[in-house]
Amino acid sequence: MMTDNDRAWAGGAILVGGAAALAATTWAGAAAGALATGEDVAPASPLTVYRMVNDWSTVWSQSQTASIVGATVADLAVVVFLVWGMRWAFRWFRNPSSLATLHQVRELTPKHAARTATRLRASLKGVKPKELPARDRGVLLGDHMPSGVELRGSDEDTYVAIMAPRAGKSTSLAIPVAEEAPGALLMTSNKADVYAATKGSRAKVGTTFLFDTQGVAQAEREVWVDLVAQAETLEGAERLASHFVNQITSEQADPFWSQAAGDLLTGLYRAAWWEGATVREVMRWLSDPKEKAPLRVLYQHEPVLAEQVDSSINIAEETQSGIYQNARTAMSALRDEKVLAWVTPDKHRARFDPETFATSTDTLYLLSKKGGPSSALVAAVADAVFTAGTEAGERHSARLPEPMRAVLDEAANICKIADLPDLYSHLGSRGITPFVILQSYRQGVRAWGEVGMDSMWSAATKKLVGVGIDDAKFAQDISSLTGAHYVERGSYSKSKDGGSRSWSEQREQVLDPAEIRAMRKGTALLMSTGMPVAQIALRPWYAEKAMAHIGPQMRDEEAAITKRAVGAYELRKATRSGR
Ligand SMILES: Nc1ncnc2c1ncn2[C@@H]1O[C@H](COP(=O)(O)OP(=O)(O)OP(=O)(O)O)[C@@H](O)[C@H]1O
Ligand SMILES: [Mg+2]
Repeated sequence: MMTDNDRAWAGGAILVGGAAALAATTWAGAAAGALATGEDVAPASPLTVYRMVNDWSTVWSQSQTASIVGATVADLAVVVFLVWGMRWAFRWFRNPSSLATLHQVRELTPKHAARTATRLRASLKGVKPKELPARDRGVLLGDHMPSGVELRGSDEDTYVAIMAPRAGKSTSLAIPVAEEAPGALLMTSNKADVYAATKGSRAKVGTTFLFDTQGVAQAEREVWVDLVAQAETLEGAERLASHFVNQITSEQADPFWSQAAGDLLTGLYRAAWWEGATVREVMRWLSDPKEKAPLRVLYQHEPVLAEQVDSSINIAEETQSGIYQNARTAMSALRDEKVLAWVTPDKHRARFDPETFATSTDTLYLLSKKGGPSSALVAAVADAVFTAGTEAGERHSARLPEPMRAVLDEAANICKIADLPDLYSHLGSRGITPFVILQSYRQGVRAWGEVGMDSMWSAATKKLVGVGIDDAKFAQDISSLTGAHYVERGSYSKSKDGGSRSWSEQREQVLDPAEIRAMRKGTALLMSTGMPVAQIALRPWYAEKAMAHIGPQMRDEEAAITKRAVGAYELRKATRSGR
């Protein structure tokens, strides 16, 4: 900390230095003027300066006008340079709020971000960072406050954003990040807004696939997803079963049932894969514990697994029916023929192929209303894409040549991949950029447990905390991460002889929890690994010139969704009255 004495010394030094610099430039300018007119130049010395101050004309007697012009130009140039330099220094090295200065987050500024992007993306090899358009410089975060300089994370980072409802998750994060995605894009949402906003632009760069079993966007089904293909390996089958079993897992429930249901589903999915059967068959096998066909298939190909599954279900009839009941509840989303159709082979529609998708510039929208059994399907499909992306990354010397962005809006409700926290940093290293968007930290804890959410939060190299954080503990944690600074506080004390004012320095949090809670709408805190906490101004798509096309394309798509919703309603009404 600087004391008053230090400040006085520093002030004195600046004054003396400034006066010396001014004298030197004045002489240099005058000398240049004299030289230009071919006259004599007075020698540079303190005496000359003294004489110049006393009587200019005696020093520059033969070139009065030229020397004055020269000195004025030189002094002005120095003043302009100093003002520019101070503004530059203030912009880079000072932040009145004590949050990160621009210099401290320089890795995210355009020049650095562009350099990182050229390293990570095959298509940008050889491109000069300076020539990169903004959208290719990485994942848009917002503008550094107060400097206003754009900050971007890289496609090697992993992101978690926590913001209250209506805080700008879709408009300022999901939509811009998706809109600028350089490669494949996976997007989950419980609303059609992000789909409507980005579908038009994404359709221009590749195919757009919509997986919408609950009719969030009311669109006609154009693809089917091969769930059974995920059971090609035992691990794949286990992962597939886990997404469904996740539906019946809770901290209160006895883990025996979910484990047994998981084993059963793993066995059935493997049997289906060997048999070339469909999910419909799996559902049929599930409805009848006496059906031995799947076990026979398993014994033929994988006797060890078959024995394990056999022994977990070949028990007292009551327990067995309990296991089957649990497995049926886990798979309950597929009771609905309309939902089942999305995962059943259909020769009139294309099969969504995660492997082709991983290295394409296509888009997959996974929409689902809040939670519920059908969110297991979203998790299963998203996981298949992650697996395909990771494997494709391994085939391309560790990373996908063009990063795949996975914008998981409402992830805690509709994309509850149980081990997403563990997958997190692995995805980042394979060229998949996960961007999980949550409404609160507690929401993440409900989905992945305290340990899971903590590990995802720590694995995220870029964390964004938006406005409206009402969780006191979380706000307290963020507050302590913003660090402390010293502030001068004055106090006034009254005594017989009058009052006296004294000043003292106090250590305070840069932002206390109440200030974090009351942050201005449209701003967020950015916690980037290895940098102090920065404040950023979010950049909603509707305020971006480069994204002006989103408005009309979103309106058109939303109008089409409304039209389809009205059409579906009319059809339902007609069917009802015809019965
Ligand atoms: N085109 C637009 N022009 C101006 N403001 C808009 C526009 N679209 C949305 N907004 C406003 O931006 C704010 C943030 O909306 P956004 O949809 O991004 O919130 P969100 O955090 O995704 O909320 P939710 O949790 O409900 O999905 C809202 O106040 C909304 O009214
Ligand atoms: Mg939203």
